[in-house]
Amino acid sequence: MKILAIESSCDETACAIVEDGVNILSNVVASSKELHQKYGGIMPELAAREQLSSILPVINETLKVLPQEKNVMQTIATHIDSIAVTVGPGLIGSLLVGVETARTMAMLTSVPIIPVNHVLAHMYANFVNYQQINENNNVTIKQYNNNIIQFPAISLVVSGGHTELYLMKSPNKLTWLGGTLDDAAGECFDKTARLLGFGNEGGVAIAKAAKWHHPSKKPSIIKLPRPMLDKDNEYNFSFSGLKSAIVRLVTTLKETNPDNALTADVIAHLAHETEEAITDVLVKKTLIAAEKHHAKSILLSGGVAANTKLREKFTASIKKFNVSITFRAPPPTLCTDNAVYIASCAFFLENPVSWKDISATPDLSVEV
Ligand code: KG4
Ligand code: ZN
Repeated sequence: MKILAIESSCDETACAIVEDGVNILSNVVASSKELHQKYGGIMPELAAREQLSSILPVINETLKVLPQEKNVMQTIATHIDSIAVTVGPGLIGSLLVGVETARTMAMLTSVPIIPVNHVLAHMYANFVNYQQINENNNVTIKQYNNNIIQFPAISLVVSGGHTELYLMKSPNKLTWLGGTLDDAAGECFDKTARLLGFGNEGGVAIAKAAKWHHPSKKPSIIKLPRPMLDKDNEYNFSFSGLKSAIVRLVTTLKETNPDNALTADVIAHLAHETEEAITDVLVKKTLIAAEKHHAKSILLSGGVAANTKLREKFTASIKKFNVSITFRAPPPTLCTDNAVYIASCAFFLENPVSWKDISATPDLSVEV
């Protein structure tokens, strides 16, 4: 079954074709990230305009892998079994571009259309086969089957707008366990990055800067809180307090040393402690859920899942368990927004609707 998926929830315009939920036939992503750089955050109006100008070229590029018929609609009608599209959550202007394009394609081709929840979809990046190059330059392909992803699994989705924990009993049986009460982990990375002068580069910049701090040579004097680890509310997260603690710290540093507060050393130190605090909380809470639900796998996904420190901490911490738990995270290119996982999610949670009944839903709930 070939699914063509469209993703346009924020600043990425993406289209992909995936076979049987696992084989990537085509994957195209365009991003307007750089255009937002000078505004210190995503400008929704600008993001929507860029979606409009990118959507058709991105779809055309994606379709190049298919045998070409008389026209685009005939190519879709002949070779695509379903169209999947992100309907929310996300920015309304951006979502509308993808949803209306997908609806029109479904109407003109009579191909079934499947609405997809962007946040739930992230975790299906763990289900697709992908090529990995090992140290000897050999390509190894990871195959999906039920023997590799063992259930029950605990799935942590960490992106720019969401930090959500799910129990997954099978590829299509999900229960939401908890999520962030305020800021998401990615948001905390992004806001700290801006505070430290990295513009919109977010978590990637923090991760890079953190590598310059070596606690074994220079013990950490900066200590940030690990929010909500001691709460009864075990599956909920809160990152806004952590963000405020970082703001306070930077303000105090600037008051004490107005001319040279943020030296390269201090920036590295702060970035390191921010990354440590965020990853400590994410790993600890996920492990609590894994233990309680006797999980056989932990699945990490979302943009923040690209973070190497987070992956290393998960790998190290599951070794301490008495029972065997497998940790999986997609390759970094499939962690950030793309349409591959939208197609895969549509395959596993298949719920086609009429093109007349599909609409962009910016505040779509992530609780299932
Ligand atoms: O999933 P995503 O591409 O978009 C949303 O759905 O939000 O996630 C974007 C988030 C941003 O907050 C970005 O800073 C973060 O993922 N991110 C990272 C890394 N790469 C992307 N955070 C930490 N370390 C990284 N290497
Ligand atoms: Zn996302």
